[in-house]
Amino acid sequence: MTIDDFAVPLLAVRDLRKIYQVRGEKRKTADFVAVDSISFDIDKGETFGLIGESGSGKTTTGRMVLALEKASSGSVLFEGNDITAMNELDMRRYRKRMQIVFQDSGSAFNPRRSVGAQIGFALQRFGMAPKDGIRDLVLDMLGRVGMEASHYDRYIHEFSGGQRQRLGIARALITNPDFLVLDEPTAALDVSVQAQILNLLKDLQSERELTMLLISHNLALVEHMCDNAGVLDHGSLVESGSVDDLLTAPRTAITRSLVDAVLEPATAASR
Ligand SMILES: Nc1ncnc2c1ncn2[C@@H]1O[C@H](COP(=O)(O)OP(=O)(O)OP(=O)(O)O)[C@@H](O)[C@H]1O
Ligand SMILES: [Mg+2]
Repeated sequence: MTIDDFAVPLLAVRDLRKIYQVRGEKRKTADFVAVDSISFDIDKGETFGLIGESGSGKTTTGRMVLALEKASSGSVLFEGNDITAMNELDMRRYRKRMQIVFQDSGSAFNPRRSVGAQIGFALQRFGMAPKDGIRDLVLDMLGRVGMEASHYDRYIHEFSGGQRQRLGIARALITNPDFLVLDEPTAALDVSVQAQILNLLKDLQSERELTMLLISHNLALVEHMCDNAGVLDHGSLVESGSVDDLLTAPRTAITRSLVDAVLEPATAASR
């Protein structure tokens, strides 16, 4: 063993590429490169931000990283193991260790079943708890995300946007994952509720040593949550590094425009 063996990042993305077949001219199919050979590392316990304008390939990247979307080429190494090359059976071991929270996590709940049963479902699916122990584990988790025991038997339409996100986070964390993809987790929420959810995620992260990939078009949010980040532009990772560097010395026009968007309110106020 060498020193390097201890330095394997939790997640290493290498030359990851996604090509969609789209309808081109004269009804012919054409290749559309949604994600173009991107590479980045995320160390254990770190939150890496992925920033970019709408359509730049953020969600596609997040889904490939979780093997929810098949990569066209390249690799995603989780603890050094390439999950893009795995069959579904081998992937099963990793599924419970990697989870996703997206913008409207409520939409992923079945409207006709109690939210509690759905949060607990993964414990049953992965055989992680005896059937009669699941309810208590879910109630614990509801408490951790700031929800109440009485919410267990309710249905998703009975909750506000912020509460739905808390429920989505509870569902993502119930299997005690090591890695979380957050795809615009607060984009649909009021500013004050956004802050609550982000602080909740930060608390849960330090409690559970979570590693996170935070997808956002909002650099202010990334500044609040991340040490390192990358900027996607039309599928290419045009720069990456520490968030401080991105903010203070942006190297590309696209990063500069994202920085300007963050500074706008302050600039407007000083006029
Ligand atoms: N299934 C698909 N078939 C064809 N093109 C797709 C498909 N899914 C995504 N795309 C295209 O790939 C590009 C990247 O999409 P993606 O959803 O990753 O962007 P994004 O950065 O998450 O955008 P947003 O900020 O709006 O969520 C877009 O141009 C989109 O139209
Ligand atoms: Mg997206």
